[in-house]
Amino acid sequence: MPIYFYPEKRIFKLDTADSSYIFKIFQENYLVHLYYGKKIPDTNLTKFHDRCVNASFSARNANWGEAGPSVDVMPMEYATNGCGDMRITGLQVRNADGNASTDIRYISHNIYSGKPKLPGLPALYANTDDECTTLEIKAFDKVTGLEATLFYTVFEKYSAMTRSVAVKNTSKKAMEVEKIMSFTLDLPTCDYDLYTLWGRHNYERTTEIRRLAHGIQGVTSRRGSSSHNQNPFMALLREGASEDYGDAYGFNLVYSSNHRCEIEVDFNGSSRVIMGIDDSDFGWHLTPGETFYSPEAVLVYSSEGLGGMSRTFHKLYNTNLVRGEWKNKKRPLLINNWEGTHMNFDDDKLLDIAKWAADIGIEMLVMDDGWFGKRNDDKCALGDWIVNEEKLKGGLGHLIERVKALGLKFGIWYEPEMISPDSDLYRAHPDWCIHVPGRETSLGRTQYVIDMTREDVRDYLFNIMCDVLGNNDIDYIKWDFNRNISEAGSALLPPERQKEFFHRFILGTYDLMDRIVKRFPHLLFENCSGGGGRYDPGMMYYSPQIWCSDNTDSIGRLDIQFGSSLCYPASVQGAHVSASRRTNYNTKKDVAMWGSFGYELDPAKISEEDKAVIRTQIAGYHKYYDLIHNGDLYRLIPTWADPYKAAWQFVSEDKTQAMVTVVRKHHVRDDSLFVRLKGLDPDTYYRCEENDEVYSGALLMYAGMNLTFAINRGDGQSLALHFEAIE
Ligand code: DGJ
Repeated sequence: MPIYFYPEKRIFKLDTADSSYIFKIFQENYLVHLYYGKKIPDTNLTKFHDRCVNASFSARNANWGEAGPSVDVMPMEYATNGCGDMRITGLQVRNADGNASTDIRYISHNIYSGKPKLPGLPALYANTDDECTTLEIKAFDKVTGLEATLFYTVFEKYSAMTRSVAVKNTSKKAMEVEKIMSFTLDLPTCDYDLYTLWGRHNYERTTEIRRLAHGIQGVTSRRGSSSHNQNPFMALLREGASEDYGDAYGFNLVYSSNHRCEIEVDFNGSSRVIMGIDDSDFGWHLTPGETFYSPEAVLVYSSEGLGGMSRTFHKLYNTNLVRGEWKNKKRPLLINNWEGTHMNFDDDKLLDIAKWAADIGIEMLVMDDGWFGKRNDDKCALGDWIVNEEKLKGGLGHLIERVKALGLKFGIWYEPEMISPDSDLYRAHPDWCIHVPGRETSLGRTQYVIDMTREDVRDYLFNIMCDVLGNNDIDYIKWDFNRNISEAGSALLPPERQKEFFHRFILGTYDLMDRIVKRFPHLLFENCSGGGGRYDPGMMYYSPQIWCSDNTDSIGRLDIQFGSSLCYPASVQGAHVSASRRTNYNTKKDVAMWGSFGYELDPAKISEEDKAVIRTQIAGYHKYYDLIHNGDLYRLIPTWADPYKAAWQFVSEDKTQAMVTVVRKHHVRDDSLFVRLKGLDPDTYYRCEENDEVYSGALLMYAGMNLTFAINRGDGQSLALHFEAIE
């Protein structure tokens, strides 16, 4: 077992292949954190909680006297509010007396193989019980009767663990959970660079790097989704660490709604990391006997820098997060009509696209927004999930039959969580939209959000979706979500539970998604939120693919794909070739191949010459599918390191195959282009498919390749090289 308890020292040690995580039960049963970092064999860390000689002004446990320690400076294992720890904390529960002082102390623990489920929430899972080990710590607030369970599951092989917290009200009076973070982590120093992913629609998950500084820093979302703007991810790179070497810590929240990911550097120079549901518009009315579960967070440590951390996330998510029939099955190469036609299509137009696609070897047609109700523009009909037979003459079944006769699969678009004011559904059920009494409801893309907290609404959506999905031969669903939530309130929740709205909303969405994936396990599910507005591990639990961004311009995409790669695997990343401006079809393909590949264009506008180029790309898609979906990613020239060029590489697990892609984003005169490959076997010889030369892994990694003249001059040119080990 990778989790040990040393009873004499009262120390817990959680080991993985590359890391150790250590904490202890201290005096008065406080849980005190000791160490998280590169694996160490011993536990002689008893002095590690002594963080300063005398913390003036800090309050102390009365039993410890003036010279004793203080919870204000000690590294706490799960920090709580209002009892002396003045830093950002993890747990704040207002008790029946009206105060929010919260203080939990260790009571007992349990260590076992496998991983428990989190009721109603997405979470990492164990394929077999011996894959991971769980530690449950029970802690108790004897004044209020609040019982907390701290969950730790260790994925030994991946140097990763998950953490979450559940609180139970064992008293006879209701309490208000005001803040519950999925974990807190105290690191002894602040010599780190913080990596976060900021963005906006069309520019999601762009890497931002800053030095930790005194005070609070981090990212949050209060938009009712994990958001385009600030992804629930943070990484810390210890001073001196880089893409390839040194201590890297990654933190990612398995949650798709409001989040808070913060780090506070205190007066002592130590750093506290917290991650969980954003508490500024959250609360939970915890009735006697009731338990509340936080979402879980994933913690990864790597001694191989940012790159090692990313590869760990990728493997972990491919193995223990993504689920279902399509987890390992080869995904069909698709064409989506959105960028080609928008809502201006009918069955003939779709069939023309399908014929063109079938001719060049594309495997699936996806019919995007505009097939239902009176939806001819984006101002109406969301909620009226009934086929528009004026557009699809003869019905959906007839269209699908003809598409399938061409040998293609068929996919469909939905936006279940929305309702248009101009829709039959809204006219019949105005109270089904999210609103607060007496206040105007704001519009976003001329639509309201439907109240997913309501069971009757979810039942309606499930049934109406089943009518289409169950009665037609559909292989794929694209689930969209195109606005943020405002005037957050539900007609059915009592006043004391309105603050639960955002969390209940996402639980409702998860519930509907769960019902759909269980009822239609064969469906390939691609999540979307105006591109990548809900590109998070919560969504990855339901959908093995997520549309990465509405930005399909190859150059713009580079920042997004490099940023996403910090923790999200290529297999999840929906990436399409479109007719968008700037680059040629070769570069479009090279960039889109970093993901779940597809096309998004109007064939009527594609020249015969470009069609011939596209035809050749499809062979490449099949040939390198496995390498990209299951291989190890190495960032050779990340976008944040060079404004002019970018390069990345996939290496197969057995190191016999590799693919290097280089893009000259902006051509600068006199700029040379060297790449040093990574992750190869130095003693193996590799043949380069493009020039038929043979090189040792050592040469490719240590001397590298000079590609200055191999890649065309000019903005947006690219080159992909493929290497195969020779006997
Ligand atoms: C936003 C998505 O990102 C697009 O791909 C497309 O599906 C539109 N919505 C349709 O309204």
